[in-house]
Amino acid sequence: MDKYLIRGGKKLSGKICAESAKNAVLPMIAAAILTEEEVVIKNCPDISDVKNMAAIVAALGASVDFCESDLIINSGKLSSYSVSESFGKEIRTSVLMLGALLSRTKKALISYPGGCDIGLRPIDIHIASLGMLGANIDERGDKLICSAKKLSGAKLVFPFPSVGATENVMLAASTAEGTTCIYNAAKEPEIKDLADMLVSMGAKISGAGSSVIEIEGVKKLHGTVYRPIPDRIEAGTFLVAAAVTGGEIELGNVKEENISPLIGKLCDNSCKVTVKNDIIYLRSSRARKAFDVITGPYPAFPTDMQAIATVLAAVSEGVSVIEDNVFANRFCHAHELAKMGAEITLCGNKAIVRGVQGLCGAEVYAHDLRCGAALVLAGLAAKGKTIVHDIKYIERGYARFEEKLRSLGADIVKK
Ligand code: EPZ
Repeated sequence: MDKYLIRGGKKLSGKICAESAKNAVLPMIAAAILTEEEVVIKNCPDISDVKNMAAIVAALGASVDFCESDLIINSGKLSSYSVSESFGKEIRTSVLMLGALLSRTKKALISYPGGCDIGLRPIDIHIASLGMLGANIDERGDKLICSAKKLSGAKLVFPFPSVGATENVMLAASTAEGTTCIYNAAKEPEIKDLADMLVSMGAKISGAGSSVIEIEGVKKLHGTVYRPIPDRIEAGTFLVAAAVTGGEIELGNVKEENISPLIGKLCDNSCKVTVKNDIIYLRSSRARKAFDVITGPYPAFPTDMQAIATVLAAVSEGVSVIEDNVFANRFCHAHELAKMGAEITLCGNKAIVRGVQGLCGAEVYAHDLRCGAALVLAGLAAKGKTIVHDIKYIERGYARFEEKLRSLGADIVKK
């Protein structure tokens, strides 16, 4: 199992650019099978989740090529509706193949999706919604066998603004007969980006990015060349890396409006943050101050930044309360950070973080993608040597992570 060896205490500084958003690219790969024509997703990050999702559509008969960082998919010769179990169980977004395959073939067979172990991740909203569009979904063990004579538009009211369920419905409803309305839809920037890509393929979607999305089904979709939005979570990770090491950073290819909740917290922490033409300049402060976080569906503070913000709180003076209202027990990083001297008390879906003067290097284990990223940041801030094991989780969502951190002055190597 690969690991990172980190010697902490170096201030990170310099310029870095965010990649395209993992959580925009993954649903776009599913969307590519909605047409028999070629789809090009530009500037794809070189991460294992993208490779796994691309392997899923390739196994269904689509041609899949990486040309530098562009991903070229042509599913004109799609020959199967059964998603391979080995890939499907690796990632959460395999569940989006339900909506995409029902739209294209009116059949789908998938296993229950995998993905980061961040607590219970049911798909009841996905299943109920696709059923409302006319799909019969049979759950047999860990398999979902789905078919639909036809897909018809429906009015859907989500009990929770689920990102994945919103994406699944947009994929299925794009070629359904009639109009579908989703009330209480997810509003994340990646939802709007998927809708924009589908519209560039001929779909008729309005309201994406708001809580009411309307999809008017069309007969056919055509190919497209599409460049996804920047990765707001990767961007936030690098900003916090500069903040916890007392450095300063110039971060390019980032949309400020998509990252404003984090910028607010960094300012509370007394970092100096300025933004000019999609470039964010951050200068960290010596006197880092405690701050509270309450995560929630967009535009609230993102749950994907929760573990990373906890590291900043752990080395900031005072007591911070970090509350996660999306995934109730996404706190596996707390146990690992405690090995480095962090003082964190868990209470339900809250982490009470008492800031300490500094962390000490230790041997720690990544349990999921964002936990792993948080442990790397803690190692960069800590005195001495840190080993982060199981970095395969980190490589799911961060391209060339150690190389980029080294370019900012970090002492980190992959072993
Ligand atoms: C997406 O996951 C992201 N993944 C996650 O990012 C992110 O944490 C999450 O949205 C929330 O923002 C991708 O986009 C690939 P949800 P998803 O459906 O779609 C409950 C990362 O680190 N729920 O909005 O799975 C669910 O249990 C990853 O990049 C149901 O109850 O998130 C959870 O509590 C991790 N029933 C909440 O909703 C359902 O049918 C949020 O889930 C679906 C969801």
